[in-house]
Amino acid sequence: MEVIIDKTPEISSANAAAEIAKLLKAKPRAVLGCATGGTPLKLYADLISMCENGEISFAGVRTFNLDEYVGLGPDDPNSYRRFMDENFFDRIDIKKSNTRVPDGLAKDIPAFCSEYEKEIKDAGGIDLQILGLGSDGHIGFNEPSSSLCSRTRIKTLAPQTLLDNARFFGGNADAVPKYAITMGIGTIMDARSVVLLAFGEGKADAVAKMVEGGISAMLPASVLQMHENAKVFVDEAAASKLANIDYYKYVRSMRP
Ligand code: F6R
Repeated sequence: MEVIIDKTPEISSANAAAEIAKLLKAKPRAVLGCATGGTPLKLYADLISMCENGEISFAGVRTFNLDEYVGLGPDDPNSYRRFMDENFFDRIDIKKSNTRVPDGLAKDIPAFCSEYEKEIKDAGGIDLQILGLGSDGHIGFNEPSSSLCSRTRIKTLAPQTLLDNARFFGGNADAVPKYAITMGIGTIMDARSVVLLAFGEGKADAVAKMVEGGISAMLPASVLQMHENAKVFVDEAAASKLANIDYYKYVRSMRP
């Protein structure tokens, strides 16, 4: 796991965007795994700017989103499909038909989840998965105790996640859907590379456990210690509880 610490979320996001731009230049038909939430907004804004100025193109790119709330359709302002369209897809040159977000209205959820896994495989697998980090250590909506080998499925959201996401639902945790369809941890681990972003003091505990704690289903993101190519972009606040912070900075300064 490579830990890349920058002063502000803005600088971290720009560095993560550069990583994605590098992939798209090398592989214009790349498959991207996308995340929602507050964390990747600046990253998406940077990628939109790069697309607008012609530095990168998404014309050949396919995307698969991590998750969607069960019961929310694309027209719901709180659905992740709507979030992705408004904050990213509608503002880049991607073909909408090449973007996939789990179907929150799927009638047969297990069948939908198997099909989603198959679509990812048929697309050649995910080249780069963008991740945020839950304050409880979740990735996607894989809450603590999720199997580290899990595949796309329905999950019950943890009470902490309902509280964390209440801000998107007018501050009302009761309004947050209780279930989500999420890629599994095994699905995420299959991605050829992973870029995780985490910002702010509220993520500092989860970041420290993810990077320096034992690998445990109780902190799902810790499984990334087993990923061959995982980069963690954090600001100083999110990095503040890392015991080896000086070492990560030293390693970065020594990069050839
Ligand atoms: C979103 C997702 C979640 C978020 C996490 C952090 O698609 O899968 O794991 O990345 O809950 O959310 P924010 O960025 O809002 O703090």
